[in-house]
Amino acid sequence: MRLRNHLLRWLLLPLALVWAIGFHLDYARSIAQANEAYDRTLAGSALAIAERVMVRDGAFSVDLPYAALEMLETRAQDRVFYKVSSERPAMVVTGHEDLPGPAAALEGDQPVFEDARYQGEAIRMVAVRRPLYEERGLGPVLVQVAETTAARQAMSTRILLDSALTQLTLIAAAALLITFGVRRGLEPLRRIRREIAGRDEFDLTPIDARAVPREVAPLIEALNLHTERQRQLNEAHRQFIADASHQLKTPLTVLKTQAALALQQQDVARMRAIVAEIHDATDMTARTINQLLALARSEPGHLMPTERVDLVEIARGATFDLLPNALDKGVELGFEDSGATPVQGQALLLRELVSNLTDNAIRYTPRGGAITVSVGQAPDGQALLQVQDNGPGIAPEHRAKVFDRFYRVNGALSDGCGLGLAIVRQICERHGALAELQTAASGQGLCVVVRFP
Ligand SMILES: Nc1ncnc2c1ncn2[C@@H]1O[C@H](COP(=O)(O)OP(=O)(O)OP(=O)(O)O)[C@@H](O)[C@H]1O
Ligand SMILES: [Mg+2]
Repeated sequence: MRLRNHLLRWLLLPLALVWAIGFHLDYARSIAQANEAYDRTLAGSALAIAERVMVRDGAFSVDLPYAALEMLETRAQDRVFYKVSSERPAMVVTGHEDLPGPAAALEGDQPVFEDARYQGEAIRMVAVRRPLYEERGLGPVLVQVAETTAARQAMSTRILLDSALTQLTLIAAAALLITFGVRRGLEPLRRIRREIAGRDEFDLTPIDARAVPREVAPLIEALNLHTERQRQLNEAHRQFIADASHQLKTPLTVLKTQAALALQQQDVARMRAIVAEIHDATDMTARTINQLLALARSEPGHLMPTERVDLVEIARGATFDLLPNALDKGVELGFEDSGATPVQGQALLLRELVSNLTDNAIRYTPRGGAITVSVGQAPDGQALLQVQDNGPGIAPEHRAKVFDRFYRVNGALSDGCGLGLAIVRQICERHGALAELQTAASGQGLCVVVRFP
């Protein structure tokens, strides 16, 4: 859809409508004007005839003024008819006997005009009534004169064509001016288009919304908002890649050094010890790569279809998967639920979320500790996931920061790359959920509560 065509359509169509209405009004006016011009002579002839009606020896006599009728007949192709009739006695005195009488009853002596049909043709007829005072008992007489309407029609057509042409010229001029005006009016939009099209492809700076028409400003602001989000996303990606390569470079350098060291060893026992370290470092690197991938998967830009899933099923699966880790570490890992708890979400991401929280609890709770993963519903119907342990917990001053990427409390004792809670936060954001760190109910340990909408 072109805005220009849209505007033109809505301006020119009403204009055409105005012209049609004008034409219609002109049509009625042109007929009235033609009638006004011709009716006068028609009435003149009728009055002239009426003047000449007399009663002689108790009978009507009409001395027809031929000049009056001829005056009519000289007009173009029109034919003229007349009829003189009396009321008392009811009779036709002279003229065309079958000329139809006037449709309306005549009052007074004013001529009355009407349109009628006679001998298959349209006629314009005038009727004049004249009382005959001298001879009581006779009269009054009715004089009718009619003519066909060719001359009138020719005149009204001429008038109509004349004014329609003038109007058409005016409307065409208006249409031209409107087309030109719309073009000029849309110039600011074209300027914005040129400005945007002429931009560098990496230029994500906002467009100046003050220099555009007020109607377009909201559009530009929305566009700027979108571009700003895009810029932030780009920035996040750039940061992520920088972080990721930094995080992977260090362990790889360590691995390489250790491998070189192992190669230099003659003593097998010493070499084995170094290879064991390499094994652990490889595990750690693999963990980092997995966490980085999980973070990338849960990035906001990544579109994923959501579905109705049971949080209990997902959390139980994730917890059971980590049972071997808990056994190794010598901590107790339990699961509790109060029946199916449906949430709208992405099963894989939700599983990642539970895994990270439970993994943290296992990692940071000392041997002999106890962990409970539970799923339930808050009184207001919100789905709740809780992972509670009786380990060292996280001091309140660190709680806001541990969700940042690569942030670890005191460099943390155990291995880890500091991405787990960042992943948890991203997954929560995507599900409209909220993660909160609390001190466990027992007063010792951490309780992470995730509320789903
Ligand atoms: N249950 C917990 N008890 C005590 N401290 C915790 C607990 N969970 C997280 N932390 C602290 O928060 C920090 C950040 O946790 P996070 O899961 O983001 O990273 P990580 O566990 O160090 O690394 P990753 O999980 O990516 O391998 C941890 O280093 C740890 O100091
Ligand atoms: Mg972790």
